[in-house]
Amino acid sequence: MITQATVPMPPRDLRELVARPEPDYFDNPNGDLVYPGLPVSTYEAVFDFGCGCGRVARLLLQQGHHRPKRYVGIDVHRGMLDWCVANITPVAPHFQFVHHDVWSPGYGRGNSARLAEPFPVEDGAFSLVIANSVFTHIYREQTEYYLHEVARILRRDGIAITTWFFFDNQSYPFFQNGVHTLFVNEIDPTAAVIYDRKWLLAAVRRAGLAVKLTEPPPVAGHQWQVYLERRRPDSVDRYPLGEEAAEWLCGATRKAIAATNATPEELGRLQVPNLIMPGQTAPAAGPPPPPPFVGPFAEWAAAQSQLATVQAELAQIKGSRAWKIARYLSEIGRATHKRLAAAYQLFRKLYKRHGK
Ligand SMILES: C[S@@+](CC[C@H](N)C(=O)[O-])C[C@H]1O[C@@H](n2cnc3c(N)ncnc32)[C@H](O)[C@@H]1O
Repeated sequence: MITQATVPMPPRDLRELVARPEPDYFDNPNGDLVYPGLPVSTYEAVFDFGCGCGRVARLLLQQGHHRPKRYVGIDVHRGMLDWCVANITPVAPHFQFVHHDVWSPGYGRGNSARLAEPFPVEDGAFSLVIANSVFTHIYREQTEYYLHEVARILRRDGIAITTWFFFDNQSYPFFQNGVHTLFVNEIDPTAAVIYDRKWLLAAVRRAGLAVKLTEPPPVAGHQWQVYLERRRPDSVDRYPLGEEAAEWLCGATRKAIAATNATPEELGRLQVPNLIMPGQTAPAAGPPPPPPFVGPFAEWAAAQSQLATVQAELAQIKGSRAWKIARYLSEIGRATHKRLAAAYQLFRKLYKRHGK
């Protein structure tokens, strides 16, 4: 019998990597269905894309009835994945965890230098694909690829539950049509990726999927839940693109840009008090020093400086007496080898002609 107590709780440092660390977010004490609106047959075979430290796996294992008969979780983070293998699979051997060896600036720095890999499972095998808070951490090209993978592994009647941050390209008049993603962090762009809501619908259709249901976020600007299924000729996308959903988007507003009756002179006279906010120090005299590199740029700069050190050492070695003597000796060696080879060829020729 699997209960809350028999499935180990991930340690706090791993819990902090995926969401709120509070244990209640990882527990399902009443054995409820994790997604109550779904038919129970949907829980038969679950694929968890970006399973982290097994939060959803844990919730599913505690579901009183209708526990998955098969579960496969993949994640780029080696530490979280290894924890799941060591702690969840022993309790539930039909719950498998596989390291997804693709690079991620936030979660998979040590992984292979590639942005996507096929899901390690067969076609049409999963009744439920879960991607909770994962498309919010990957680039658009990866999303395009993985939507196709979702379509590939979904059973004919399967459902994929995905979450997204959305903005509306049209809310930003200076954007060209090509801006489909926004990033909130210049050091790790995948810290949070926000998608143009129209782009996602087009990408879903390109992948052969359809939107079964869309749930707006509990708080404006937070993650939307988009339920996907395999596309049929009569599919209808239940996906709000109009004004009725605009107020839930990141940074969007239904209001027109505010108009003012003030004249330019009046506007020029407006003054903003020179406030110092709590925690902020008084402005320093003079400009601040140039900022240092941070994040991946710092790693790149360190690699550059290591390369420069190695090049300088090499130049020093090449200028040394020992190097010059070694070169001289190797040239003599090469010339001797050439002469011996020529003598050998001559010897073979003479032997063929006269030796027999
Ligand atoms: C915010 S956490 C969510 C974890 C889990 N889905 C949950 O709800 O508890 C995002 C997870 O996505 C994983 N991730 C990020 N990029 C990934 C990728 N390209 N492939 C697989 N997993 C990825 C991260 O390692 C991390 O565990």
